[in-house]
Amino acid sequence: MKAVIDEVVAKPYFQQKHCTRWKQNVVQKDESFQRKSILRRGKANFITGESDLTPDQTALLYCRHYLQMHLASSRHLFDVYADSQFSQKSPLNPEQITMIDFGCGPMTSGLALAWHAKELHNKKLDINYIGIDHAPAMLRLAKNFSQNQQLFSRNSNFQFLTECNNPQTLIKYIKSVEACYQKTPIFLNFSYLFASDSLEQLQLAKVVNNTLEYFDKKNFIILFQNPPLSCLNRKWFDFKKNLAYDFDVVGHQIQLPYYEYQFFEQSKPDKTKHINLYYEIIAI
Ligand SMILES: C[S@@+](CC[C@H](N)C(=O)[O-])C[C@H]1O[C@@H](n2cnc3c(N)ncnc32)[C@H](O)[C@@H]1O
Repeated sequence: MKAVIDEVVAKPYFQQKHCTRWKQNVVQKDESFQRKSILRRGKANFITGESDLTPDQTALLYCRHYLQMHLASSRHLFDVYADSQFSQKSPLNPEQITMIDFGCGPMTSGLALAWHAKELHNKKLDINYIGIDHAPAMLRLAKNFSQNQQLFSRNSNFQFLTECNNPQTLIKYIKSVEACYQKTPIFLNFSYLFASDSLEQLQLAKVVNNTLEYFDKKNFIILFQNPPLSCLNRKWFDFKKNLAYDFDVVGHQIQLPYYEYQFFEQSKPDKTKHINLYYEIIAI
């Protein structure tokens, strides 16, 4: 993953050093300021940009602080799923995956699944992927990542949307790509989205319910993750209460170790860090 992130994130990140605003607002501030005051711990506005930075600069800064962390926790969820009782009914076959990624950011979870496929199956991921994010700057990064031919097979199919309030959009897409896949799960992914102030969780529940209703017999798996803070997860519990279907759930709060490369301050050594994570895997 290092080479992939180097190309899409680290290179353009270092090119910013000539920009005066970047120098003043990023380079001259410490890491904690960047996380708390510019990125607002991941709740930054990536449509307008923050602290005089452009949306693209804000998205790059997000990747610098959070991409590896979220990649590791998303990867963990796919590993847990593959070992769980759910995967006996719907195995995680890297050649037949469909994922709808709500609040996809730079396609973190799509990359994590490709990483899982590469390490566990030694295969490129063959994925039908819809990434939904209201921030075009995030979708630009996601598109760049989707072009990586080491991770994704040529048969992969990517679509990127800035909104999805109409279930027909998802239904049409799933119908078009799923004709030949009967047993494989369709992942509905919510990775670090539910703390968003602009998220309308009841509208989202409606879209998901209508989609589930249309594909009555399909295996849908909902993946949720966020930090384990109740103030950040209120909308998630509200969303779950409004799901119109019975489900089985595996959920845990864990401290997950992960190894972080120092792309951005190469003078510092790589190190093992920890993520405080709350996740749920829901099988409908
Ligand atoms: C914290 S980031 C998480 C990104 C990615 N899923 C990850 O795990 O790294 C949240 C993302 O959700 C997007 N987002 C927030 N509220 C949204 C909304 N109401 N509709 C669509 N996207 C939204 C933001 O633009 C941002 O890219």
